[in-house]
Amino acid sequence: MKTTLLRSAAMLMLLGGAVAHAQDYPTKTITMVVPFAAGGPTDTVARLVAQSMSAKLKQTIIVENVGGAGGTIGAARVAKAAPDGYTVLLHHIGHSTAPALYRKLTYNAIDSFEPVGLVTDVPMTLVARKDFPAKDFKEFLAYVKANKAKVTYANAGIGSASHLCGMLFMTAIATDLTTVPYKGTGPAMNDLLGGQVDFMCDQTTNTTSQIKGGKIKAYGVTTKARLPNMPDLPTLNEAGLPNFEVAVWHGLYAPKGTPKPVIDALSGALQVALKDPAVKQRFADLGTEPVAEARAKPEALRAHLKSEIDRWGPIIAKAGAYAD
Ligand code: MLT
Repeated sequence: MKTTLLRSAAMLMLLGGAVAHAQDYPTKTITMVVPFAAGGPTDTVARLVAQSMSAKLKQTIIVENVGGAGGTIGAARVAKAAPDGYTVLLHHIGHSTAPALYRKLTYNAIDSFEPVGLVTDVPMTLVARKDFPAKDFKEFLAYVKANKAKVTYANAGIGSASHLCGMLFMTAIATDLTTVPYKGTGPAMNDLLGGQVDFMCDQTTNTTSQIKGGKIKAYGVTTKARLPNMPDLPTLNEAGLPNFEVAVWHGLYAPKGTPKPVIDALSGALQVALKDPAVKQRFADLGTEPVAEARAKPEALRAHLKSEIDRWGPIIAKAGAYAD
């Protein structure tokens, strides 16, 4: 009897400690893992959001870039982290395509995580090195098809948004091209600017300043309507690639088992960050906007992730794309 009472007392103390810990959260620095290299679009979104969430939580949030394998290495890092709210993952649509692309994932995209909330949907742009010999999409397409053996396109690895857009593009034009994978489209952009790679499909959060600065060529944007921050850039739909729409949604996650008070604190800080005028302005300058408050919540991200996994599975299977 005595042992049982002692064990129950120990359990209550442990539970009490966990509840107290969750109620006091956060009491130390939080790590926000970005599963792509520094300087790319995912990194840009993360740093903007982290800075504002940090002010709300009154705790430092450091962004740690854990690139490779299309974002699955960084996601695995967070899946295995302690479920205490001090390691979170900022990922994008690639979290929903990885289950169909990677046969040996060490985590489950849904069950290994607690959703915190959606963040933003970012348009993509088809961009090329500055001296690419095509003045518009029509000429670009003709050149790519005529030179498919030598044209190279950059992406951030199988499962990245740039890979997904490239895969859809090659399917749409029925032409296979040589891919140059990077740990993120930050490094890929460096090679595009240097002319070492011919083109890529990348997010406006990474391409806007280079397009506006005339350092790369842009042939179209992957949204239904033209972007307010680049009204002269045609949609790919109007440029000649019908129904070519890709938006890169981003979500914030914690490891499975993270206590609800901690998730609520993170989601509350995310919602405040997405209403922060500085974040909204910077997103607008980069061609995107924060999601509505109702979407920056766990249940909205949970539902969206599930529907996206279900959506992309058959598309990826049909394209025959996968990684080992
Ligand atoms: C992607 O293609 O998924 C992203 O551009 C990767 C990154 O943020 O670098």
